[in-house]
Parts: sequence; C-alpha cells; structure tokens
Amino acid sequence: MGASRLRFFALIFILLPFLFLFGISYASSELVINKAERRIDLTSSIVRVYTTLKVENTGPSSASEVLLAFSPAETEHLSVIKASFVEGKRKKKTFSPLPVNPTKLPSAPKGTQLFSLSLSKPLNNGESITLEVLTIFTHSLQPFPVEISQSESQFVHYRDSAVLLSPYEIKEQITYIKTPSNKIESYTRVDPTNVVGTELKYGRFNDRPAFSFLPIMVHFENNHPFAVVEELIRRIEVSHWGSVQVKEHYRLVHAGARHKGVFSRVDYQARPAFSGVSSLKHLLARLPPHVHSVYYRDEIGNISSSHLRGDSQKSELEIQPRYPLFGGWKAHFIIGYSLPLQDFLFETEEGKRYLNFSFGCPFVETVVDKLTIKIVLPEGSKVPTAEVPFLVEQDQETSFSYLDVIGRPVVVLKAKNIVPEHNVPFQVHYKFNRIFMLAEPLMLVSAVFLFFVACIAYLNIDLSIARPSSLQSSKE
Ligand SMILES: *[C@@H]1O[C@H](CO)[C@@H](O)[C@H](O)[C@H]1NC(C)=O
Ligand SMILES: *[C@@H]1O[C@H](CO)[C@@H](O)[C@H](O)[C@H]1NC(C)=O
Repeated sequence: MGASRLRFFALIFILLPFLFLFGISYASSELVINKAERRIDLTSSIVRVYTTLKVENTGPSSASEVLLAFSPAETEHLSVIKASFVEGKRKKKTFSPLPVNPTKLPSAPKGTQLFSLSLSKPLNNGESITLEVLTIFTHSLQPFPVEISQSESQFVHYRDSAVLLSPYEIKEQITYIKTPSNKIESYTRVDPTNVVGTELKYGRFNDRPAFSFLPIMVHFENNHPFAVVEELIRRIEVSHWGSVQVKEHYRLVHAGARHKGVFSRVDYQARPAFSGVSSLKHLLARLPPHVHSVYYRDEIGNISSSHLRGDSQKSELEIQPRYPLFGGWKAHFIIGYSLPLQDFLFETEEGKRYLNFSFGCPFVETVVDKLTIKIVLPEGSKVPTAEVPFLVEQDQETSFSYLDVIGRPVVVLKAKNIVPEHNVPFQVHYKFNRIFMLAEPLMLVSAVFLFFVACIAYLNIDLSIARPSSLQSSKE
C-alpha cells in the first residue's frame, strides 16, 4: 500500500504552502502595509502595545475594512483593542475611533484570530491611511524563575514575534520593546536586533509576506508587583434619599514569582531596597471626588491603615494590607464608601433617570480576572437598561432590604479580563414614579403606628392579667 499513498502525501505536503499563499492572496491582495511601527511597553505587569500602520490600497476595488491578526496565545490574553484613524501631522493630529469587531478569514493560519476595523469612508485604489492601534494583554509575562526568595529580584519571560502578525504584506517595519530596567538577562537575536538601555529594537525588516511570524523571547527584570484581583464584586446602591453606596469585595493575589522560604519581617523592614522588592506593599484606589464614610476591612475586622486624600477633582485611597503580599500570597478584603447622589444621578429630557458611574476597578495598574457589578436601584424603579461601551454579560435580579415590599431591581453586569483602560463611564437608565418616594416614610409611619397599637394592646393585656389574681383572692 505504501508507495503510492506516500507519494500522495508528499505531493500534498509540497503543495500546501502554495495553496496557503494562494488563499492569502485571494483574500487580501488589495491592501498593503507600507510602514508598521510597534512599541511594546513591558514596564508594568500589563502589556500595552501601540502600533502605527500606514495602509495603502493597491487593488482595483475600494476597501471598507482593515484587518488585524492575533496569534492563539495573544487571543487568550487579549483585554482591549482600540483603533483610530489619524489625520494631520505632528501637533495637529486628530484621532477618530473606529469600530472593532471579531471576524474570520478562511486563509488565516489555524488558531489566528482576526478583528476588523470598519473605516468611516472607503479606501480607494492608490489611497493610503494611517491607523493607530492600542492592544492590551494580561497574564503575558511569565515569572522565571517561578520561585524567588525574599532577597531576590523578579525576572520574567515575554514571548512575541519580531515581525508583526498581519494578513497583509508589510513593506517596512520596526518593533521597540521597553523594559522597566536595563537588566535584560537575555533576548532572542535576529538580524537586526539592537539594545540601548531599557529598549530593545527589532528591525527594520523589509518586504515581509502576510502572516509572517518570527518567534522571540525576552528575559528581563520586572519588580512590578503583579496585582491581580481574581474576583471583584462591586455593589452600587442608589438611594433617592441622597446617596450612592458602594461596597466592593476583593479576592486579590500577587501573581508574580512565588515566594520561597520564610518571611522575615525584620529583614523586610531593615532593608526595604533589597528585601521583597517585588512585594505588594500598598494599593492605591482612585475614587470619585466627595467620597465619604470610607471603610476597609478583611475577615478579621477593620483595618485602620488606610489614608484618604483628595480635592474637588478626585479622591485617592491608599490601603495597606495587614502584611506585604509576596508572589502567590492572597488577601481578601472589602472596601466601602458613600457618594453624593447628585454627582451620579441625572435625568434625561424624556424624564427617565440614569446613573452615570465608572466601570472597572478603582485600583491602579490592577488586572481583574472576573468582575461583577451589581447596580441596586430604588424600589419601584422600572425597565432598567445598562449602556456599557464594550461587550459585557447583562442580567437582572431582585434584592430585598429593610422596609422593602416588592424588592429592588438589580442590574448585574459581568466581564472578564479587565484592566485600568476599562475605567470608563457607563449608564443605567430606568423609570421611576415619584409616588414610590413615599413608600418608605409610609412604611415607617405605619411601623410606628403599629408599635403604638401594640403598646396599647400590651398595656391592656397587662391590666387583664392583674384582674384574675384579685378575682382569685375574692373567691377564697
Ligand atoms: C468598622 O468601621 C466602620 C466605619 O468606620 C464602623 O461603622 C464599624 O462599626 C467598624 N466595625 C468594627 C468591628 O470595628
Ligand atoms: C458621565 O460622567 C463623565 C464624567 O465622569 C462625563 O464625562 C460623561 O459625559 C457622563 N456621561 C453622561 C451620559 O452623562
């Protein structure tokens, strides 16, 4: 059986790259990237990639979209893609955001995820445009070694491609990688590679065909504490009596290199520059201005080591866990605060009300793996709808507290892989009949009334108890 079948497979094997190339040219022959510049920022625990693309349409028909490609590893950790169309030069640049949507391309290598940027006006033959793209990835720096002792620095691996993965041919390109310090232990050398201080430069590369990939790895020092909230539940309660109350449950972990050996507090306090350099000592939350009644507690109780400072523009809350967090260590805690209602609740022209609040997590440079936001509306609110500027899972439930009769509608929003760039305003619209404002006072009044009735009844009963004894004595 062997020979002919073998020949057949050999033929397929030889033809495969051609079939592949044919597929690509069929799908995307029209656009060409004349120039690509990529700046990869690895200075924190979150990877931010800024890409500038000069795209030209060399085909006969006009193009309405530009595609971006991501490898399977990138897709898994992709948190944000923002793209804008740039007009003008240098200081007079204007940016117009473009809608980004996942799409498919049959000719793309297996596992490659594509996103389409919809152009506001079609790109005709011979025309070019400049696009700027920001992509953010989480969990993309692997600690190596995976375990370090208290006195060691944290080093990480970063893997990528020296050339930009793209469904188009790239005429000229260059990639810069910025590291937090100049301690770059090792890096993959391709021709040409250059290191100057804290920056690695790959390229320039000329005439790379579509879907080119040139794997590289950089091993460097990164003592940024990897603050990851595995789960965050925020409960935002609106009361028409003047306040918005927020309560946030955190399950925080230091996701950097795991701590090895015993923790010495003496060493830690005596030599802060050499001991536990990558540990998480405190957390900073950016809260809205006019915040008050702030508390911070964990399973044991209130923690007083928090500082609140601020002005009319912003408030900053700095909290200190009971002990510094080393790699692999966890902390569960709750913070709560109140805000004035008039800063967040507004009315539309049609008389509907809406809450305008910030999405995401208030802590700086923190990744949230799983975020749930529950907006608890006043009792009697109707048809709540949430407007969030990106894709989130939406749900509704009902919550009961003291004096509630029919319960409060709760809008539940769920999202994954959240970074500080998700801290943008979102709105919850709802209808509310003012008569419901009377519900709670009425309940209170009736409760007080019932209390009096009960007291009177009790006093009456008390009298009636006294009587039988007198009756008894008269009998005897
Ligand atoms: C914790 O602090 C809050 C606000 O400061 C206070 O209301 C609460 O009673 C305190 N709880 C304990 C157990 O000290
Ligand atoms: C929501 O609040 C932000 C500022 O916090 C403001 O820029 C934005 O315009 C507000 N959005 C709406 C719809 O009111």
